[in-house]
Amino acid sequence: MASASLLKSSPVLDRSEFVKGQSLRQPSASIIRCPPPPQPSPFLLAPMLMSLSRLRYKTVASPGRGILAMDESNATCGKRLASIGLENTEANRQAYRTLLVTAPGLGQYISGAILFEETLYQSTTDGKKMVDVLIEQNIVPGIKVDKGLVPLPGSNNESWCQGLDGLASRTAAYYQQGARFAKWRTVVSIPNGPSALAVKEAAWGLARYAAISQDNGLVPIVEPEILLDGEHGIDRTFEVALKVWAEVFYYLAENNALFEGILLKPSMVTPGAECKDKATPQQVSDYTLKLLKRRIPPAIPGIMFLSGGQSEVEATLNLNAMNQGPNPWHVSFSYARALQNTCLKTWAGRPENVKAAQEVLLVRAKANSLAQLGKYTGEGESEEAKKGMFVKGYVY
Ligand code: 13P
Repeated sequence: MASASLLKSSPVLDRSEFVKGQSLRQPSASIIRCPPPPQPSPFLLAPMLMSLSRLRYKTVASPGRGILAMDESNATCGKRLASIGLENTEANRQAYRTLLVTAPGLGQYISGAILFEETLYQSTTDGKKMVDVLIEQNIVPGIKVDKGLVPLPGSNNESWCQGLDGLASRTAAYYQQGARFAKWRTVVSIPNGPSALAVKEAAWGLARYAAISQDNGLVPIVEPEILLDGEHGIDRTFEVALKVWAEVFYYLAENNALFEGILLKPSMVTPGAECKDKATPQQVSDYTLKLLKRRIPPAIPGIMFLSGGQSEVEATLNLNAMNQGPNPWHVSFSYARALQNTCLKTWAGRPENVKAAQEVLLVRAKANSLAQLGKYTGEGESEEAKKGMFVKGYVY
């Protein structure tokens, strides 16, 4: 059950907005009995859904704010902890995530936090529910719902994303626990193809997930990550991204997902990590906005980029370049590595470093908040924040 404080303290949790997906997508018999609906039933309630979802997005996609992705699976979190010499225990994961969610004033720059299932049900080291701490900070809790990547038989050594089985009941339970949005990350590899099969599978999985999440009251973040791996130039990334997003929207429409109730999490259009020609923030911005304008309808309220192995500063500079003029969508961030890297290193697992690590997190959150507003200058950044984080064959 959602706790009392959760229901009281956040605008997104207003009860008037709490119409569960089942009743929204499938109108009750009395609504549809007479006269017979001229359209498939979900569309009858689209205007109401629209205003409901807008209410949510006012909070998640609000000016100068973005999403903190802190949803690393236990295996990935283990790798992060190992990089600072810590064991991958529940206590260490809890200590680190407590540090993140309790950073004073985080909600000024962060509108939503994506959690791994363990964290959604976890308390801070002081015994408060993580979810309640986030809500007190005016941060909407979200949940990673995909079950990760496995090899895709019949493809060119590509992968597919699991997690549709049981998703309806899981999303309903996550909603009860306080989550209000969901994330499903699948990947497309350029050096391995991408094959038509892998792109279709990625797009179909995202679309089914989006419809199921909406049906259970969660706003889906749709994330087909085009991996940085490869020697290809920026034009090739652009070409693949056009194909991937065309297919994603084809299947989103086929699954009757409501576009006003979706957030996207694309990769920025950049050259492959091993390409010798590097792109400037202006080039990344030009290519990425061209892609988005060709493929993403303005009904979509928010584009929340992943960082994908770019350095903290690079990801912020690129976002800033994209916000130099008006866009039809809120163009912001949903970074994991590009918000957390220096913070994690500063903490190094030591209680006496918690305050300093939280300050570093706030520095990054503020920098990206400024970039969302197009006002980031890049001045005064540390050398650590300029280090790339690309890992070949990265698994999240
Ligand atoms: P990165 O910003 O580290 O690429 O993480 C993206 C992500 O999907 C986390 O939710």
